[in-house]
Amino acid sequence: MIHTGRHFLQIPGPTNVPDRVLRAMAQPVIDHRGPEFAKLATEVFEGLRPVFQTSGAVIVYPSSGTGAWEAAIVNTLSPGDRVLMFETGHFSQLWRQLAESIGLQVEYVPGNWRSGVSPTEVESRLAADKNHAFKAVMVVHNETATGVTSRLPEIRRAMNQARHPALLIVDAISSLASIDLRHDEWGIDVTICGSQKGLMIPPGLSFHAISERALAANKSAKFPRSYWDWQPMLQQNRTGFFPYTPPTNLLFALREALQMLQEEGLPNVFRRHRRHAEAARAAVRAWDLEIVCEEPLEYSATTTAVFTPQGHDADRLRKIILENFDMSLGAGLSKLAGKVFRIGHLGHFNDLMLAGTLSGIEMGLRLAGVPHKDGGVMAALDSLAPSGRVAEPAASLK
Ligand SMILES: Cc1ncc(COP(=O)(O)O)c(C=O)c1O
Repeated sequence: MIHTGRHFLQIPGPTNVPDRVLRAMAQPVIDHRGPEFAKLATEVFEGLRPVFQTSGAVIVYPSSGTGAWEAAIVNTLSPGDRVLMFETGHFSQLWRQLAESIGLQVEYVPGNWRSGVSPTEVESRLAADKNHAFKAVMVVHNETATGVTSRLPEIRRAMNQARHPALLIVDAISSLASIDLRHDEWGIDVTICGSQKGLMIPPGLSFHAISERALAANKSAKFPRSYWDWQPMLQQNRTGFFPYTPPTNLLFALREALQMLQEEGLPNVFRRHRRHAEAARAAVRAWDLEIVCEEPLEYSATTTAVFTPQGHDADRLRKIILENFDMSLGAGLSKLAGKVFRIGHLGHFNDLMLAGTLSGIEMGLRLAGVPHKDGGVMAALDSLAPSGRVAEPAASLK
C-alpha cells in the first residue's frame, strides 16, 4: 500500500524527532578530541542538569536505556546485595531480570500491572528491614507498558519515614522531560534516562543523574565495571571529553533538543503533556474502552494504555490502523500482548497531532469491528478546546 503524507509515530518512544533536531544532526562529524567537541559536550552537560532538576553530575552513555540500568547497578552496588523492586509491568520485569542475572538478590513486590509502586508497601518493607539489608530501592517512574506513573515524592517520603539508608534508583526513561522529576529535591540517587522519548532525539544515548550519596556508594561498590565506570567518565567529562569515542551527531541533536525544551520552559512542557493525556483519556472513555491504569493519581502524562474488549485482538487493530492510516501505536507487552494498545503522546507533539492520532484510532476501531461508542475524537476536542471558551493567545492554551 502506498502511503502519502507523514507517518504517525505514536508509540511511547522512540518519539517523533523535530525537524530542527534532524537538521542539527546533519553535520560533518567533528574531531572528538578537539576544542569544538569540548564546547559541544560542555553545553550538553549544562543543558541536561536543569532537565534532571539537579546541580550534580550527569553522565551520558552511548547506549540504550537498558545499558544505563546495568550501569546504575554496577556503579553503586556489589554482587549479592539485596534490593527492593516492584512489579509495575513489563519494564520492571526486565529490570528485575537484568538485576538478578548480574548477581543481585531482588525482593520483587508483586503488582497487578494496573497501578504503581505503593508508598505504603515501600515503608512497611523498609521498616521491617531492621538490619538495612536492602542496599537500594529500584523504581520505574513511568511504566511505559501500562501508562502508570508511580508517585516518587511519596515513595521518597516513605523511605524517610522508615529511616532506611537504601539508595533510591529511578528509571525515568519514559518520564524525563515530559513528567516532573526532581532529582535533587526528591532525593533520588541515580536517575536513569534514554534519549528516544521526552528528549526528542533518536535512540542511542542514555543518561544518569547522580547524587553525592551515589558517588560515595561508588567508592565501595564491588561489581566489576569498565565501560560503564563513572570515574573515568566524570574525570574526562570535566574538560568536555569522553573516555571513548562519543556519538558526536547524537550530541548535536541533544544540544538542539535541550535548547527547544529550554525555550518552551519545563513547567510548560509538563503542562502540555498532562493536557494531551487528559484529552486522550477523554477519548478512551467516550469510546467506552477501559484504560489500563486504574488509579487516577497515577495516570501517565506520556502514555495511555487501553484494553480492547475481550475477544478483540489489539494487535489486529494496530495492524489495520498501520495499513490504512500509516500510524504506529504501541503494542501490548508480555502478558498484555494482544489485549492492549498504547498511545504515545509525548515528546515533539501538539493538539493537531493528538487529534490526528485519535482520529486514526477511532477509524481503526470501526474498520476492525471493535465494539465501541462513537464520539471519542469529539470528546478529546472538547477537552482541548471546550466549547464556549473564548480564544486566548496560543501560548496560554498550553
Ligand atoms: C520505562 C522503560 N524502561 C526501560 C526501557 C528500556 O530502554 P531501551 O529499550 O532504550 O534499552 C524502556 C524502553 O522503552 C522503558 O520504557
